[in-house]
Amino acid sequence: MKQIFSGVQPSGSFTLGNYIGAMKRFVDLQDEGNCLYCIVNLHSLTVPKDPELLRQYTMELAAMYLSIGINPEKSILFIQSQVPQHAELGWLMQCTGYIGELERMTQYKEKSTGKDIVTGGLLTYPALMAADILLYNTTHVPVGEDQKQHLEFTRDMADRFNKKYGETFVIPEPMIQQFGGRIMSLDDPAKKMSKSNPNAGSYIALLDEPKEVEKKIKRAVTDSEGIIRYDKDSKPAVSNLLTIYSACSGESIETLEKRYEGRGYGDFKKDLAEVVINTLTPIQEGFTKWISSPDLIDILKDGAVRAEAIAEKKMATVRKNMGLVTF
Ligand code: AMP
Ligand code: TRP
Repeated sequence: MKQIFSGVQPSGSFTLGNYIGAMKRFVDLQDEGNCLYCIVNLHSLTVPKDPELLRQYTMELAAMYLSIGINPEKSILFIQSQVPQHAELGWLMQCTGYIGELERMTQYKEKSTGKDIVTGGLLTYPALMAADILLYNTTHVPVGEDQKQHLEFTRDMADRFNKKYGETFVIPEPMIQQFGGRIMSLDDPAKKMSKSNPNAGSYIALLDEPKEVEKKIKRAVTDSEGIIRYDKDSKPAVSNLLTIYSACSGESIETLEKRYEGRGYGDFKKDLAEVVINTLTPIQEGFTKWISSPDLIDILKDGAVRAEAIAEKKMATVRKNMGLVTF
């Protein structure tokens, strides 16, 4: 039986990249194993955050998880800071990893370069992420491609710890999709689609209104060839749009290439907008329902209790193996 764990930061809006690259798969995986899905609010503190906004974004992410189809009866849905074992093992992982390893992380370099304030947490971020994963005997971690390096770090930490202190952790496998693992910006196919891009036209947010979706897709860059064909190297923009179409409609890229043979980008974009809107509409309806539901807090409380029971069992072994005295 697969043991599946993944996390998303509560950092405001979510993009179609988050959804296609990671969250959409969280839903399907519920039938393949035991799933834990975490709102990693401690990770959000690695860059300065307004407390009121963090609270709001945390609840919005919880509602979003439920709106896309996470079923709290099948999966454990919880907030990271409500299970204190994450912070505890996070520290122990900081004492297992090396500064050189942390400084090599692409995400750290990207988020720290040119910034006036860089917190210690931004550097040690992957140690906390390793803790999240290793607490639950996780075998599989569904993430987007940008998290691959953090997963490699997690595997190294588990292996190093096991060699030093005896078999303690399961070594997890990343699950990264071949298509959709990296959805690119609509205005620049060399950049990852990201909500932190100051140009809102570069990404589709999951809560974007249909009109906005249409406008953004209409303006999305293509190329001058005028042929709808997948070729990541020579046609990155059109390939990205095909990937989005395929992920939202469930049709293969080949089927789409055939359907649009001899047709122009205008036609293709019109249909693509419709397919994206059809994907987003039920999510948005779910979100409106869940964000004001009194059940939301109970689901999160219950998730935290279930998660902590597993995490504490692992921590008892970790403390014993490391020589941390318990009476
Ligand atoms: P984050 O919003 O950074 O917490 O990311 C949540 C999940 O979405 C992670 O698994 C990311 O790898 C994934 N993700 C974020 N942006 C993209 C993107 N543009 N394409 C594919 N996956 C993404
Ligand atoms: N670092 C991940 C991101 O930014 C979020 C995350 C934190 C995570 N802990 C995790 C993802 C554990 C998977 C497993 O997207």
